[in-house]
Amino acid sequence: MVKNGFNSRAVHSGDLKIDGIGNVVTPIFENSTFEFNEDGTSGKYIYSRWGNPTIESLEDKYASLEESKYAFAFSSGMSAITSIIMGILKKGDKLLSINELYGQTFSFFAETLPLYGIDVDFISVRNLNDLKIDNRKYKAFYVESITNPLLEIPDIEKISKYCRENDIILIVDATFATPYNQNPLSLGADIVVHSGTKYLSGHTDLLIGLLGSNKYYDEIIKSRKTFGGIPDAFQAYLVYRGIKTLGLRMKQHNQNGKAVADILNDSHKIEAVYYPGLENGYFHNIAKRNLRGYGGMVSFKVRGGIEKSHKLINNMKIPLYAVSLGGVESLISIPVEGTHSALSKAEREESGITDNLIRLSLGIEDTEDLVQDVSSALEKL
Ligand SMILES: Cc1ncc(COP(=O)(O)O)c(C=O)c1O
Repeated sequence: MVKNGFNSRAVHSGDLKIDGIGNVVTPIFENSTFEFNEDGTSGKYIYSRWGNPTIESLEDKYASLEESKYAFAFSSGMSAITSIIMGILKKGDKLLSINELYGQTFSFFAETLPLYGIDVDFISVRNLNDLKIDNRKYKAFYVESITNPLLEIPDIEKISKYCRENDIILIVDATFATPYNQNPLSLGADIVVHSGTKYLSGHTDLLIGLLGSNKYYDEIIKSRKTFGGIPDAFQAYLVYRGIKTLGLRMKQHNQNGKAVADILNDSHKIEAVYYPGLENGYFHNIAKRNLRGYGGMVSFKVRGGIEKSHKLINNMKIPLYAVSLGGVESLISIPVEGTHSALSKAEREESGITDNLIRLSLGIEDTEDLVQDVSSALEKL
């Protein structure tokens, strides 16, 4: 097992080598089932919903980057989230989460879980960071380590200490941060989940979920077998391949995020910029302790309303107008028209998601090209 720097682990760890073949990369095992031995005992693999060599190779690679004892791949980020929650919570348990969550996660918590007798309370990230938590007995806390779309930063270090003292399980969705910028388990969290669809895969061509933990192996494996959210071997192979360049990509995403946030921050045509790496930001000091890099996501509000936001997007030549994030190509979207369209106007305004808010996922294009694109789009506005 190679235990070197991030990029060396990304390239070498978890690879499946087969004796007598000399294969350099993990093969794709497109098998639903595996033969038993002649004596009737099973081999290491029986049936792919229970485990598959290609998927396991991806899990081992991811575990080495997440620095987790266990890793599990799922068919999508939502599959990882629903499987872990249903795997460790039961009727009568209470969950605390934050107001600003990925929309589907929010609806799972607010609408689905109560149907199964699991109550969920929501709190602002600021109040959670100040530990303004009423003393109902919670079984678990669930946060996103960089929230969407306003890029707020829960203080995992501080919250995890509270959780340990009160016997609460802390689950962190670190999709926006990735293991390159943050390892939530090292900060004290119990479980980390990712929509690997985003940065981990990195190429906008598939959906996958990844989960890391140091405990709850039996609960998680049972939940995955039961709910059936296992990825396909080819899907797993593509992510295994994508992860090899995660460090190189994240370095460029981090650089592009900061450069574009700075340009926007300096423009009088922009009302507000949300980026954890901006020194004047409310969450910057918390971000400094919880993140090693600030990522490629930048959100901002254009002065003049949604028409001006559309104009700015039209003026930009590089980003494609689409939801999702974390791929090599820059994507731009207006949350009220996509990811947050299910919320009422009042709910959106209450959480600061105004009509003129734009979310930009910076890809790995050259920084100078992106800076030039944003600058000239602002000039033409
Ligand atoms: C932060 C976050 N968590 C979870 C998900 C769900 O992941 P998936 O789309 O892979 O199911 C998303 C999807 O956009 C997300 O942004």
